[in-house]
Amino acid sequence: MNWDGAAPMSKARHDDPRALLASYLTQLADAGEKDMCLSAETAALVKGAGPSQSVGPTAAQTPEKPREMGTPEKQREIVKPQKLSVPEQAAMLPELEPTKIVLALGRGTADPDMFVEASCLRSCTCLNEIERISLACEKCELAGTRISVVFGAGDENADLMFVGEAPGANEDREGIPFIGRAGALLDKIIEAAGFRRENVYISNILKCRPPNNRTPLSNEIEACVPILAKQIEIIAPRIICTLGLPATQTLLGVKGSMGSLRGKVYVQGNLKVIPTYHPAAALRDPKYKRPMWEDFLRIRKEYDKL
Ligand code: URA
Repeated sequence: MNWDGAAPMSKARHDDPRALLASYLTQLADAGEKDMCLSAETAALVKGAGPSQSVGPTAAQTPEKPREMGTPEKQREIVKPQKLSVPEQAAMLPELEPTKIVLALGRGTADPDMFVEASCLRSCTCLNEIERISLACEKCELAGTRISVVFGAGDENADLMFVGEAPGANEDREGIPFIGRAGALLDKIIEAAGFRRENVYISNILKCRPPNNRTPLSNEIEACVPILAKQIEIIAPRIICTLGLPATQTLLGVKGSMGSLRGKVYVQGNLKVIPTYHPAAALRDPKYKRPMWEDFLRIRKEYDKL
């Protein structure tokens, strides 16, 4: 998958020379380097046995014959740099102490009981029933400007769920979340991290498009999150990735910048919330792609532990 965020992580394990070297070689590979001359000593390090043998190139992966360079002590080997696989990159992430949270959706105005159709929503036992309620929703002014209610899409039994901000023009027209440019990028990152879109569930905090894609208003969020809370209750994902600030702040019930909220794992019981930048931010400014990729590696790592 050629997603240019899929670069090696910026931080290799500092206590593992092989991991550091592999990270460096991967960076060179990403920069377009095809062949590398390594000292015999360095090549031996790369080829070294042990648990991190798969990290970085090995002799078995390098068909080139060793090339004589000067005296035998100064012998060099040509080594083909190889990108680390996604699980290898994920495994190199440091373990994080999870931050305990109480999901904001479970309290206050987000309680399904606060919804106008409270008793209906409360008694829903499947997504279709919730969707029926949301299709008829007129709790805020967006009901007057929407074309579609964009309820959500994907696997009802998914362990991994993505929560974005609100539908854009394409989504409003088609009734499907994340199908525009931001959606295309999201699809690429999802696949680059080894997931498939059809195996995850994707939704938004708002089910209707705000005019001109403006940021959701607090009354719109309050009106809409009971639907999301109920979706989460039914799907019961083990990992939720919040995309962008409104989704992150809404789920976590905290203020703060994306830069300060991402790079952490928030945990409530069996559920982990892993925030990252909205793909539209990465489209506007590529500097967000690297941290986004690291967040997706974190998702991969946590998912693989399930
Ligand atoms: N942006 C979002 O936050 N959600 C969508 O569904 C599309 C774009």
